Amino acid sequence: MSKKIKVGVAGCGYWGPNLIRNFRALPDCQLKTMCDLNTARLKHLKTLYPEVASETDYSHMLNGVNLDAVIIATGVGSHYPMAKAALLAGKHTFIEKPMASSVEQCEELVELAKKTAWC
Ligand SMILES: NC(=O)c1ccc[n+]([C@@H]2O[C@H](COP(=O)([O-])OP(=O)(O)OC[C@H]3O[C@@H](n4cnc5c(N)ncnc54)[C@H](O)[C@@H]3O)[C@@H](O)[C@H]2O)c1
Repeated sequence: MSKKIKVGVAGCGYWGPNLIRNFRALPDCQLKTMCDLNTARLKHLKTLYPEVASETDYSHMLNGVNLDAVIIATGVGSHYPMAKAALLAGKHTFIEKPMASSVEQCEELVELAKKTAWC
């Protein structure tokens, strides 16, 4: 059996739970961590997915947990810095739409992805 892709989701507000549900259902993925600044959101999601770790510190999720891939569904204002940090940490990175706040930010992330991970 092939190795599962270990995934963490940042942003567990309105849209993030759709990604959590779908990545958790993929047979090739293992949903390891759900990250949100809002502890009430995490508490709610832990009732649905008690086997998945929860985390309020995105930096810790990136560097302290052994993830292969990061899903970012926070809010467009934070997509660019969070995606850049994920790519620089060597993670495969999925960014919810809209990808970032400007064309320049999007282009920089695409170039960074070409250098650091899958594109
Ligand atoms: N709502 C929709 O129908 C919809 C559809 C498609 C795409 N999207 C995109 O999905 C993203 C999320 O939208 P939403 O509607 O779920 O927003 P939301 O405000 O409901 O949820 C965002 C969550 O991210 C968390 N968050 C913010 N900064 C964080 C950080 N640094 N670390 C960890 N968690 C952090 C917030 O606490 C919040 O729970 C946006 O980029 C949006 O454009 C939303």
